[in-house]
Amino acid sequence: MCGIVGYIGNRNVKDVVIGGLAKLEYRGYDSAGIATLDNDKVTVVKSVGRLTNLEKKLEANPVSGHLGIGHTRWATHGRPSDENAHPHQDCSGRFAIIHNGIIENYLSLREELQAKGHQFRSETDTEVVAHLIEELYNGDLLSTMVAVGKRITGAYALVVMTKDEPDTIIAMRKASPLIVGLGEGENFIASDIPAVLEYTRKVYVLDDGEMAVVRKDSVECYTLAGEPVTKEVLNVTWDAVAAERGGYAHFMLKEIHEQPKAIRDTLTGRIASDLSRVVLDEEVNWSRDFVKAIDRIHIVACGTSWHAGLVGKSVIEKLARIPVDVEIASEYRYRDPIQTDNTLIIVISQSGETADTLAALRDAKARGRRVLGITNVVGSSVAREADDVLITRAGPEIAVASTKAYTTQLVVLYLLAVYFGQERGLLGEDQVRDILAGLHDLPQAAEEVLDAAPQLEKFAEEWKDAHDTFFIGRGVDYFLSMEGALKLKEISYIHAEAYAAGELKHGTLALITDGVPVIALVTQTDLYEKTLSNIKEVKARDAFVLGVTFVGDEALRKSVDEVIYLPRTMPLLSPIVTVIPLQLLAYYAAVARGNDVDKPRNLAKSVTVE
Ligand code: M6R
Repeated sequence: MCGIVGYIGNRNVKDVVIGGLAKLEYRGYDSAGIATLDNDKVTVVKSVGRLTNLEKKLEANPVSGHLGIGHTRWATHGRPSDENAHPHQDCSGRFAIIHNGIIENYLSLREELQAKGHQFRSETDTEVVAHLIEELYNGDLLSTMVAVGKRITGAYALVVMTKDEPDTIIAMRKASPLIVGLGEGENFIASDIPAVLEYTRKVYVLDDGEMAVVRKDSVECYTLAGEPVTKEVLNVTWDAVAAERGGYAHFMLKEIHEQPKAIRDTLTGRIASDLSRVVLDEEVNWSRDFVKAIDRIHIVACGTSWHAGLVGKSVIEKLARIPVDVEIASEYRYRDPIQTDNTLIIVISQSGETADTLAALRDAKARGRRVLGITNVVGSSVAREADDVLITRAGPEIAVASTKAYTTQLVVLYLLAVYFGQERGLLGEDQVRDILAGLHDLPQAAEEVLDAAPQLEKFAEEWKDAHDTFFIGRGVDYFLSMEGALKLKEISYIHAEAYAAGELKHGTLALITDGVPVIALVTQTDLYEKTLSNIKEVKARDAFVLGVTFVGDEALRKSVDEVIYLPRTMPLLSPIVTVIPLQLLAYYAAVARGNDVDKPRNLAKSVTVE
């Protein structure tokens, strides 16, 4: 985690750095800090807590200069505190550094440096790097950082400045994201693109094992060994406004409402105009023989992306008859999974930077497997390291709770399932056309379901003091229940659990008592009667049941306390629409409880530690 910003140029350095950090605060927000170089002096100001605390401190202790670096922290080593906030400095105060990642050998380095007389001020792993630079500095920051890179192990995006070289910032990257924004007479460094969009759309995405020497009028890139590398400029098509809240009270609400567009964008160009086939040929480099030979698929992801994978399993198995295992990345990578030569690995990650998912990707590649990455971030590690990539076109997702990334991941998985089915000769023309017509209509259905917002807001207000909530469903509705429960827990802090509806009576039914809220998803026509029986089981224990079903289902209304109606879609495609009321329910519950919706406690948007 952690957000990093660096600037060199003629603007007000504090404004650029703080403005950039505000756009990256989703990466961590337990403390923040800034270092600037002014009049031959490095000045550092830092504060525990949100960025606003730092801003208040800066009002009392203004900083200026033409060069600066800043950081928002998500604690791993050392509790959130002023001392542990970045930037960190060496003993002399000549150097200042910021870091995202973990220096794994920091304990032995710390002992070594302490033995040489270095005085440490924090409990962090990062501070060793500042002292190591001081120890190794030879008058040339670039070659010093090459030497530093040889001594440290682990994951890092590191940015360093020194009063001894007042026209230079150095950024280096190993396993943690880092970009350089290219301006005219100014340049920028950041962990993520939204931080620089206000100033430039031209960026270099540093690859693993690269560093950049950033000056006002030039950016030179090198390997960590100091060999020059030539980078291609990435032209970013998002504009700065797209990364802002756009009038909504929270990013999450904005992102929920952006789903019809995000779904449409993700479908664009991937369905033939006569709805006869899915077209992915320009994005994946697979021959028909390769697709036919796939004998199993492992989908690997974390959190919400893992939930998308579970729906993907159902639909790929149904349409393409390929056995699919869906694995939590942090488990998969440690358990020596059984893969055949023809196993396709699919990693799903909104950010494309989740450490465990990336590690699983790298492990699969090391075993000789072909990896498909599904990610929302062009230029992310998943996008660059996977053999083939399908980008979800959700646009920047800022709220920690994932919404539009999930629905667009589902869209890509549906397209993939139809693609596999068509290439393997399993789907008839009519079947393909029906499914693709259904996908084509989804943006409209997503638009309509947003009309349920006032009903969900009222319901959330009434329920906001619940201690426990249960989500139940069968088939894909069970996987949707898991996503609904995660969303509610994550931002409202109400305990929530998801159950396959038929499983309740094997234990959990004991927890259902008078008034306990149960959200029952009933979109799978072939499982309708069975789910209805399970609803009756909880009603008989006096639960309060909110049913979610298709418009026109009057039978369910009689069996539950309240109903949310969804526009009709094919049951196969219903998850993309069903999840939206669950997102809204979580959102309004969090608002009703006065929580910080976009930045829930203890969490960060991009989990770049294992
Ligand atoms: O960026 P990723 O999709 O790899 O992130 C995975 C999870 O950390 C993420 O989906 C998380 O569960 C969300 N905050 C849930 O809303």
